[in-house]
Amino acid sequence: MSTPSPLSDPLTKLAYQALQQTKGVFGLTHKTLSSRVLNAIAPMGIIAPRRDSAAKPLSPELFAKVKQRVDQLQAIDWQDAEEGIYPKELLFDHPWGDFLRFYPLVCLDSVQIWNRANQQQFQDFSPSVDTSGYPQYYVRNFHHQTDGYFSDFSANIYDLQVELLFNGSADAMRRRILAPLRTSLQAFSDVAPKAVKILDVACGTGRTLRMMRGMLPQASLYGTDLSPAYLRKANQLLSELPGELPQLTQSNAEELPYVENYFHAVTCVFLFHELPAPVRQKVFEQCFRVVKPGGSLIICDSIQMNDSPELVPVMENFAENFHEPFYRNYIQDDLSDRLCNAGFVDITEQVHFMSKYWIARKPIAAPTDNLSKQDLTHAAES
Ligand SMILES: C[S@@+](CC[C@H](N)C(=O)[O-])C[C@H]1O[C@@H](n2cnc3c(N)ncnc32)[C@H](O)[C@@H]1O
Repeated sequence: MSTPSPLSDPLTKLAYQALQQTKGVFGLTHKTLSSRVLNAIAPMGIIAPRRDSAAKPLSPELFAKVKQRVDQLQAIDWQDAEEGIYPKELLFDHPWGDFLRFYPLVCLDSVQIWNRANQQQFQDFSPSVDTSGYPQYYVRNFHHQTDGYFSDFSANIYDLQVELLFNGSADAMRRRILAPLRTSLQAFSDVAPKAVKILDVACGTGRTLRMMRGMLPQASLYGTDLSPAYLRKANQLLSELPGELPQLTQSNAEELPYVENYFHAVTCVFLFHELPAPVRQKVFEQCFRVVKPGGSLIICDSIQMNDSPELVPVMENFAENFHEPFYRNYIQDDLSDRLCNAGFVDITEQVHFMSKYWIARKPIAAPTDNLSKQDLTHAAES
């Protein structure tokens, strides 16, 4: 456990609850107001006309369920901080300066997003963007966002856009990986804290690495992502922190540029719903390759149909309203099965608010080319 937090309770708890509530109200108000304004000006011909959408209105009962899940997420987030799994300071750690600076740009950009969404333009990039050499599935405006993942503008406003999308709960969902990460590292309790190596795949602007640095001040952290712009932003935000700077590398998660059995743990947040199914499998195989025997892969991504059937309308609306071409397949994909096929064992799942988590371990005796997984299972049975 980390050292007890200097922040006193129950004042800190109240401050945390007030902050989450304010972010929730702000996110909802932002979305309601911007959609009202855009809907009002669309008939004037200044922006693209509104396209008929198959999105369904959500019932008050469904809203109540979503609210209940947010409350549960916040309760467990607070509890983990209270128990010292991670410092309470993390609950208040936001790039406030960036949020203030970039909020007007987020508002202005909603016009471009509206136009792209209603004109069904999915590959709309500034002339300065060079998309050559990137996989085809990646060259698109995910969430209709300006320049996709290809520009500094996109990287600057991304964290705020995600916080608004989840009504201020995005970081609380990311923090759900910290408790299983800490537990999984117990397998390496004989390793000096500085020698513990953790990789965050598709690290984006570095939010998860920042949280890990808060929980594990001495660990050697690594982040990789396909987007140079997002890595530049991650470098800027992570440089503000004391301690060793995480090592950031541009790479495709399908071909991780690390030797095998290198990391004590690998994490990945909000990536798999943006990948075609065969690529998901490839990335699992790469994560398996680079994690040490006994080490774990911890994933956070969207909820899926089978574990949250009551939220299927929310998932369908997400697929309809945002440009997420692989999401419908993702919500029905059995990732535990894929992890098992990649060689992982002891696979467990958790669900919190709108996210699902997979915790999977690489066995100490990993199957080799000569000795398949089935052979090992039969050997254990006989
Ligand atoms: C939804 S964002 C999530 C970013 C970050 N993990 C977070 O929590 O905000 C998806 C990220 O995955 C990256 N990405 C998508 N496909 C990738 C691939 N094949 N290899 C590496 N990174 C990829 C994108 O550049 C982007 O930063």
